Amino acid sequence: MALEQRDGVVFIDGERRLPERAVVSVYDRGFLYGDSVFEVIRTYGGRPFGLEEHVARLHRSAGKLAIALPWSEASLVDELARQVREAAFTESYVRVVVTRGAGPLGLDPDLADRPSRITLIHALTLPPTSVYRDGVALLVASAARATDGTAAEGAKASNYLANLLALREAKARGAYEPLFVETTSAGVRLALEGGSSNVFALFGALLVTPPERRILSGVTRRYVIEAAPAAGLRVETADLPIERLLTADEVFITSTIREIVPVVRILDGERATTIGAGVPGPAVRRVHRAFRAHVGAGGPGGASMPWE
Ligand SMILES: Cc1ncc(COP(=O)(O)O)c(C=O)c1O
Repeated sequence: MALEQRDGVVFIDGERRLPERAVVSVYDRGFLYGDSVFEVIRTYGGRPFGLEEHVARLHRSAGKLAIALPWSEASLVDELARQVREAAFTESYVRVVVTRGAGPLGLDPDLADRPSRITLIHALTLPPTSVYRDGVALLVASAARATDGTAAEGAKASNYLANLLALREAKARGAYEPLFVETTSAGVRLALEGGSSNVFALFGALLVTPPERRILSGVTRRYVIEAAPAAGLRVETADLPIERLLTADEVFITSTIREIVPVVRILDGERATTIGAGVPGPAVRRVHRAFRAHVGAGGPGGASMPWE
């Protein structure tokens, strides 16, 4: 998904700016240190989906980074809803960034005390149909994230350097998304989440997804958990060793923009494992339909599903 700058609608601290004039200070700590948090939200039927939930997560993320937000959740929700209406795209991609703000050079977070908020709104574009129709490959990532083991673990902190390098590595191997792991003291690798997604694995009628301990608590993940019974599945939040994941009947990843993407191959070092029959299985289709029904969304393009 490549979103052209010139096609965006941008607000900085609530003020609308022309995209080509939308600039933040070079002393902003988001730029200098990745000292910021963000959310990605999409609309269904023109209305931001799960807006309160995203704003609550933004506040929780800021809390983990000890960025004190001077705006209430309710005022941010109102502002974002207004901005999306003003941008007036049929369906929108919305990225909200909150930085600790600008201050004198120096690592000390106390050097800045005026957080800044930036909203970027674009027309929503979705992955190609082939991603849903054929499924994708994951590459088990070799590196950890910058926030792993820190107070910011599980926050949607803007420092995605490890994620983007892992994505680069995945693409170089022909995979679509990296899969981060945690290695236990016993040397067992547990699946955590994708580079920008959560992961689910199906065993019979049981859907397993890793616990929230070290992952981003995905909004899509939560709705999939709620919708799964309507697809005839039980859900368990449990550790998911890579060796078990590789034996799953079906695997899929979830994220706000992409919703639910079937995984048909997992690359782990030199080993490539085909999941199920190597094509998207029936359960991922059922879950995706149940998810759409649960969120009350026909989705862009009406009632058709993205693989159709
Ligand atoms: C690391 C990570 N995990 C999970 C997700 C999925 O979260 P959501 O469903 O709220 O988009 C994302 C989304 O960008 C992410 O970056």
